[in-house]
Amino acid sequence: MTKIIKVVARQVFDSRGNPTVEAEVFLSNKIKASAIVPSGASTGAFEAYELRDGNINYFLGKSVLTAVKNINTIINKNLKNIDSGKQKKIDQILLDLDGTENKKKLGANALLAVSLAVSKAEAISKKKELYQHLGKKFLLPKPLMNIINGGAHADNNLRIQEFMIRPDSAKNFMDAVEKCFLVIQNLKKIFQSKNLSTNVGDEGGFAPLINSNEEALDLVVQAIEKSKLKPGVDISICLDVAANELINKDGEYSLNSADFISVDESITYYKNLVSKYPIKSIEDPFAEDDWNAWSSLTKEIGKNVQIVGDDLFATNVKRLKKGIKEKSANSILIKVNQIGTLTETLNVIKLAKKNNFSTIISHRSGDTEDTFIADLAVATQSTQIKTGSLARSERVAKYNRLLRIEEQLGKSSKIARI
Ligand code: PGA
Ligand code: ZN
Repeated sequence: MTKIIKVVARQVFDSRGNPTVEAEVFLSNKIKASAIVPSGASTGAFEAYELRDGNINYFLGKSVLTAVKNINTIINKNLKNIDSGKQKKIDQILLDLDGTENKKKLGANALLAVSLAVSKAEAISKKKELYQHLGKKFLLPKPLMNIINGGAHADNNLRIQEFMIRPDSAKNFMDAVEKCFLVIQNLKKIFQSKNLSTNVGDEGGFAPLINSNEEALDLVVQAIEKSKLKPGVDISICLDVAANELINKDGEYSLNSADFISVDESITYYKNLVSKYPIKSIEDPFAEDDWNAWSSLTKEIGKNVQIVGDDLFATNVKRLKKGIKEKSANSILIKVNQIGTLTETLNVIKLAKKNNFSTIISHRSGDTEDTFIADLAVATQSTQIKTGSLARSERVAKYNRLLRIEEQLGKSSKIARI
């Protein structure tokens, strides 16, 4: 049996330059491993608590020294001599030490860094790749590559936060990357020809000064065609509306302009978009508490379109159960830091799969060089991964990890069919 000798934490930085938590776990067989926690911008109200110090005179209040201290003291003390192979037990100790519903006491960022680092250390200890440690059957996910950023992720006027492409006809992961690469390069040329900026936003997608969703969609379709790929067959379009950011106090949404429209009008708007463009997936079409609106939309278009709950479910079993009962969606976005431990994340994925919800493993807009989610996607046989554009090292790191896994799996490697 391998035991945990100590857990050490430190403050490091994410892709937006904001402080975040890294934990390093040391085992009795001299193995060590570390994990870094990502951080969102359009965070939902039901996410586990990200503990920041709030001292405006130090890193503008964003430092995470309390979470780091919590790991170095109370967590370190309580995990000493625990069998590192007992992930469930370790995660339960973390939950008990915290004792709050949303991990407010020690910070979900403290809990998650330790939980993930334990599993990485145990994998190395068993001489396994992380995905082999996390699962038994493997599947490469299709990437949902972000190509245009709007909303809270960019400084333009686009209301929809993310325009993504999914290479549906890709035969393997390298093929998936190549198809996305072509569309991205052609989109860049189109932007250049229109004197639109090709600077990239937080998740590596372009962030040009475009004003309407339709204009963005038209340009993406043009880029797909210019790549000699068939829209809706080879490449489909996926959206993350992040509608939490677009709702007013009367429950209306500003989906395409500064004007607000009702839920019924929003549903009509989505139906039109889906009939006009090769859109196969819509994430967070409504706000995180607008359950009825979600059910109505899923009833209307859920047969042909993936309706993805991100802020709605917050990677939380209780919220997913409600969503299953109310048929609010047919897919769930999985973000490890929305819930705060590996065991809870795996439980949500299990529940989703049992109920025929697709699972999309996701990064955060503030992410790091940590590639844990690539292995998680493969090990949970999730059909999709959302980890930004083919740009910015913190995004590409996940794609590169998936390519290495594909190479390791060799002939037995398979990519999800959607
Ligand atoms: P976030 O964005 O990490 O800023 O929350 C990602 C998403 O909304 O899916
Ligand atoms: Zn989202």
